[in-house]
Amino acid sequence: MEKILILPGDGIGPEVMGEVRRVIDWFGTNRGFQVTLDEDLVGGCAYDAHGAAISDAAMQKAHDADAVLLGAVGGPQWDNVAYEARPEAGLLRLRADLQLFANLRPAICFAALADASSLKRELVEGLDIMIVRELTGGVYFGEPRGIEELGNGQRRGVNTQVYETYEIERIARVAGDLAMKRGKRLASSEKRNVMESGLLWNEEVTRVISDEFPELELEHVLADNCAMQLVRNPKQYDVLVTDNLFGDILSDIAAMLTGSLGMLPSASLGAPDGDGARSKALYEPVHGSAPDIAGQGKANPIASIMSLAMALRYTFERGDDADLLENAVTAVLDKGIRTGDIMQADMQAVGTSGMGDAVLAALDELGAGA
Ligand code: IPM
Ligand code: MG
Repeated sequence: MEKILILPGDGIGPEVMGEVRRVIDWFGTNRGFQVTLDEDLVGGCAYDAHGAAISDAAMQKAHDADAVLLGAVGGPQWDNVAYEARPEAGLLRLRADLQLFANLRPAICFAALADASSLKRELVEGLDIMIVRELTGGVYFGEPRGIEELGNGQRRGVNTQVYETYEIERIARVAGDLAMKRGKRLASSEKRNVMESGLLWNEEVTRVISDEFPELELEHVLADNCAMQLVRNPKQYDVLVTDNLFGDILSDIAAMLTGSLGMLPSASLGAPDGDGARSKALYEPVHGSAPDIAGQGKANPIASIMSLAMALRYTFERGDDADLLENAVTAVLDKGIRTGDIMQADMQAVGTSGMGDAVLAALDELGAGA
């Protein structure tokens, strides 16, 4: 039996993950998707309960699960906790300990929402970019790091950007595989004009792609220029591979282009273990914990629901079910059903559970027993 660990986290996390549970149940009843669900704490709520952003017991459950579904972490009430216990540390430990090096962040603009983008409709309508962000290396984890007292009243803050060949190779392969299944175009982004780690990135990506994916059209783009190109003409990109820090920034830009941070899912995948076992995987919405609307039943659960669709596709190899769920969400949007974050004139306003109801109704219409 498949095992899913749900980590709702903080803020709106528990609300949106409640809707995800209902969708999982629907697939169990109607499509034979049999899973055991477990739940635990991550983020500020874990800190309140255990004094750490994730407990060892929850980490063990994450190791044992086929997929982890995470809501969101963080909130102003934890602004002053010790740095190593801050809510984000739970997420970073999950990424590091499960070796989830490949972060897939699709930026898709739903036709029904093209007017919600900060860019003109014609620039974003039909947008479909896959950002592949390296997630376990680079400046996020490089040593040395820390803040030291210099003894003269000055302090020094240090972080280290470091990549080794194998880290670049494996993320280039993930991106190459995805590009082969999509438009066969890959862009790779770094700052080789300033950083040796960027030069290495550039050279290793070039080598892996020309040796292993000769059919792909590969383009290199400096990260600052890439940010500019993403707002100038985003549809020029198909798959975009980049490092941990640039990926953090570029994926936020790409997300906002779609007009709807509340809509975007992500997958963080590890390497297959070689014994035919599944890769470790964590799925989470791109949006944060939105403390300003937490607990009010207003949050948009679609990003979390779309993250479940990615889990169905990438972990459970149920591509048809993933398509069905994505089509159900599209149908709901086409009907004009909207949570507050994507509200437009003359549309029907719903809250978190209302959106969940609408997705379940669309699933019933499109796919029960199919
Ligand atoms: C993200 C977030 C995280 C990151 C934070 C919450 C640590 O911004 O997933 O993009 O910087 O990776
Ligand atoms: Mg980010």
